[in-house]
Amino acid sequence: MLITVTGATGHLGRRIVHQLSKTLSPNQIRIGAHNPSKAAALMEAGFQVAHLDYQDPATLTPALRDHHQTYLLSQSTSLPMTELAAIMTKVSGHQIGYQPVSVAEFARLYREEGDGDELASMYQAGAMGLLSGTSDDFWTITGHAPTSMADFLAANYRPK
Ligand SMILES: NC(=O)c1ccc[n+]([C@@H]2O[C@H](COP(=O)([O-])OP(=O)(O)OC[C@H]3O[C@@H](n4cnc5c(N)ncnc54)[C@H](OP(=O)(O)O)[C@@H]3O)[C@@H](O)[C@H]2O)c1
Repeated sequence: MLITVTGATGHLGRRIVHQLSKTLSPNQIRIGAHNPSKAAALMEAGFQVAHLDYQDPATLTPALRDHHQTYLLSQSTSLPMTELAAIMTKVSGHQIGYQPVSVAEFARLYREEGDGDELASMYQAGAMGLLSGTSDDFWTITGHAPTSMADFLAANYRPK
């Protein structure tokens, strides 16, 4: 088995690599690195490192060669914003609602944090249904169901 982890040097990707390392050897895990320099330590640890840039199609074929399967790690169900708000209301004890805004307004709301446009593009993708795909791949890889959003928040919510 060979698994390539995209975004492997990021917050989520690093954790996925760490978890996979518990059951696979480093030569079974390929690091898909946007900036291979950030993966130097992983390369030293024996992982294969391949340059992978979503915006540069020429990098995708070499990085994903030898694969027979692509996995989508997701929750078991896709949660609309209103359901997320209901879960957060229950867990936090505070009434949390959802009020749709325009993409431009969404970008403005988060601009001060420095990633308004990036988050707005995800907001738009969500509205277009592009983030609602689910799969059983998490179960296939780990042998257990992903933690539900409600259980995760109940275990980790810390009121200020
Ligand atoms: N963390 C969260 O709370 C959260 C919540 C919702 C959704 N997400 C989504 O989950 C994904 C991972 O999140 P994260 O927190 O791990 O983000 P992150 O720490 O910023 O990591 C993103 C990773 O993607 C790589 N990357 C950036 N541009 C790329 C490109 N053009 N082609 C290939 N790889 C590229 C980055 O490499 P470089 O650093 O070298 O550019 C980095 O390894 C993102 O799509 C994020 O929007 C995260």
